Formats: sequence, structure tokens, C-alpha cells
Amino acid sequence: MDQLRITGGNRLDGAVPIAGAKNAALPQIAASLLSPEPLELTNLPKVSDVENMLNIIGLYGAEVSRDMRGTRIDAADIVARTVDYDTVRKMRASILVLAPLLARFGAARVSLPGGCAIGARPVDMHLKVLAALGAEVAIEGGYIVADAKAGLSGARIVLSGPSVGATETALMAATAARGETEILNAAREPEVVDLVACLTAMGAQIEGAGTHRLLVQGATTWRAASHHGIPDRVEAGTYAVAAAITGGRIELVNARMEHLASVFQALEAMGVTVWPGDRGVVVNGTERLRPVDITTEPYPGFPTDLQAQFMAMASRAEGASLFRETIFENRFMHVPELIRLGADIALNGPVAVVRGGKPLKGAPVMATDLRASVSLVLAALVAEGETVINRVYHLDRGYEQLDRKLAQCGAQIERISQ
Ligand code: UD1
Repeated sequence: MDQLRITGGNRLDGAVPIAGAKNAALPQIAASLLSPEPLELTNLPKVSDVENMLNIIGLYGAEVSRDMRGTRIDAADIVARTVDYDTVRKMRASILVLAPLLARFGAARVSLPGGCAIGARPVDMHLKVLAALGAEVAIEGGYIVADAKAGLSGARIVLSGPSVGATETALMAATAARGETEILNAAREPEVVDLVACLTAMGAQIEGAGTHRLLVQGATTWRAASHHGIPDRVEAGTYAVAAAITGGRIELVNARMEHLASVFQALEAMGVTVWPGDRGVVVNGTERLRPVDITTEPYPGFPTDLQAQFMAMASRAEGASLFRETIFENRFMHVPELIRLGADIALNGPVAVVRGGKPLKGAPVMATDLRASVSLVLAALVAEGETVINRVYHLDRGYEQLDRKLAQCGAQIERISQ
């Protein structure tokens, strides 16, 4: 297992190309299974979650080919089969293939995704969506078994909360159902809007993207399509913190200001300057960060996927910062590791209080999940001495060339392959 060795203290300065969004890519790769016509995706990030999803659709018989332009997926001749637990357990998003397979074959058997390090993360809403569209859904021996032999039928679906994944499942299933589907309380995340754009290019008719009400006309006539995915707002937000925490300056090339409004607002409250540049967004840190008060919320609120990174930064701000996590329980696994680096953080249920301003000191730490691990990288950039981060594969799931991009901005970071 690889390690990252980071020696803190360098101010970062440079430009970072922001890759395509992992969380937009995953549902789009799954959506390719809906159509017998080819789909070309031209901005897939080179991260292991995306590789994993491409492998999964390959196991169903989709042909994946790559050239300089992008990745072409041909799902004309896919076969109904069951992919085993070992293949899907690594990634919760593998549940996203359920709806397209059910739509295509009238039946699907997909392993329940494995336990997840950030809480229970049930898939009940995905299953309710498919049941509302007329499928019989059961859990048998660790597998989700869905049956809709007579096809799916359009319906009015009211989600119990704006789940990103359940909205994506509903959208994909509804494009193949007979008649119209109305999805209420839908998620408004840019990745959902981008899935709508991709499905629309493939021939679907969907209204209301970016609002809580989506209207889908079913029985899509599929056509060959090409789609360029949005930039990764979480990667952009992470490098914004890298600039801010080191008092440096980073240009986030390709980043979209409008996807990160709540994040930039929080940065500005901490004394960081953010402005639109020619090629994206420029973030300029400050010597004296101010404490912050953050509550995670569905989009356009502050994203849970950037909570850990901001907590690392709050440990540098003089005074007490407050974090309330409302999306996932148990999303504070970075806290004990940040404490090992010298951070002063008190946890009380979904609330964390960070008393910042004390110097951080390098130590060996353990990556636990994707966003938790990157918060350790950020803290290590300002910790005195050397920090060794183990289990780097968590970072490789969602960050393309993290060590290289940071090194190009002046970080002292080394990847040790073991
Ligand atoms: C997606 C993102 C993830 C991000 C999250 C919230 C992908 C691949 N991942 O995850 O990075 O942190 O959105 O922005 O896009 N829930 C249920 N039952 C369900 C589904 C969800 O109770 O069937 C709950 C979850 O436990 C959680 C909340 O709904 O408390 C929101 O989860 P959801 O929006 O579905 O997250 P994901 O789509 O899994």
C-alpha cells in the first residue's frame, strides 16, 4: 500500500487543472447501459472509482474504448448477469447500475453495496423509487432483486429527502418507463443537472433540472451521443483550501464559480480572497484566518464533501469554529487523526468545535475515507516536520494525481510505493 510523505511549511503558489467531476462521471457511466447506441464521455477523471465503474459495466458486456478525445461506451450487446459482491463492495455508487439494468432487461439482480465508512448510508430510497415505477423489489441473500417483466410505468415519485443517488436512479428508470414521471423533492446538485444534460444528449426529455421538481417523458428513443462532464467542484474546493491554509495563491483552472458559491462564501468569511480568473477561479490565502461556522446542507448549501477539508483549515484560524454535519452521521472520522497532528477538536454528536491557532506537528496518520484523508493531507501541508499518511488508495478513489498537482504548486510531498 502506498504512503504519502509530506513536510509542512511551504506556501503553495501555482495553477491546478481541475479534472472532470467523479460524482458526475459515475452516474453517466451507469446511464450508458440504458441505450443500445454508443455514448462518448469526454471529461472523465483518471481516478480509481471511475475505473471501477467502467470495469463493472464491462462485466455486463459493455465495450469501453479510449482515445485522445475521451471514453466511448458501447452497450449494444450487454447481457443480464449478476456481478458479485466483491466487485461492487468497494463503491457504494455501484447501486447506480440497478435502474438501467432493470430498464433494459425487465429484471436485475445487483449486490447490495457494502458497509460504508461514513455511516449506514441505506439504499431504501433507490428501492422505493423503482417500486413506485412498478417494479417488484426484494432483498435476497445480500442481493437486490428487482423485477418489472411488464416494463416500468411513469409515476409521481415523492422522495423523502433530496438524495443525490435516489434522484439519479429515478431519472434513469423514468427515461425508460412508459409515460410521464414527476420526481418531487429531487436533489439539485450540479452532478444531477449534468446527468440530465447527458441523458438529454442521449435522447431523453427531461424538464426542471436544478429544481426540486423533475418531469421526465419516458419511452426514450435513444441516439448516439457525446457529453463533456462538469469540473469537479469538490476537487476545486480542496485546492482552494490548500491555497488558503498555506497562505498561498492557487488558480483553479476550469473551476466554476457558480458551483461553489457557499464554499467561497465560507472562505471569504475566513478572510480568504476569491475572484473569477481568465481560466477559472483564483484563491488567495491570508496570514490570519478567521474562525468559521459551517452547517452542511444539500446543494446549494455547504457540501458535506468539503467539511473535513474546512475542519483542517479551521485548526489554523485563531478562535473557535463550529461545524454541524447534517447529511451523514459518523462523518467525523478525520477528527481523531487531525487530533494526532495536534488539532484541538471536541465532538458532540453531529457537532464539532475546533479551537484553532495551535501549531500542528507532523505524525503518522491513517486515511479512512476519501474526504477524511484529504483533510489530513491539507493539515500536513502546514504541520511542522514530516507527516506520513497510510492507505493512500482512499485518495486515489477521487483525486487525480493529487501528489503531483500539490508538488507543482510547491508542496513538499512524496509518494512512496510499497
Ligand atoms: C452523493 C455523493 C457523495 C455526497 C452525497 C451528498 C456520489 C457518487 N456521491 O452520495 O459524495 O457526499 O451525495 O452530497 O454522487 N439516504 C437514505 N436512503 C437512500 C439514499 C440516501 O437514507 O436510499 C440518505 C443518506 O444516508 C444520507 C442522505 O440520504 O443521509 C443523502 O445521501 P445521498 O444524497 O443519497 O448521497 P449519495 O448519492 O450516496
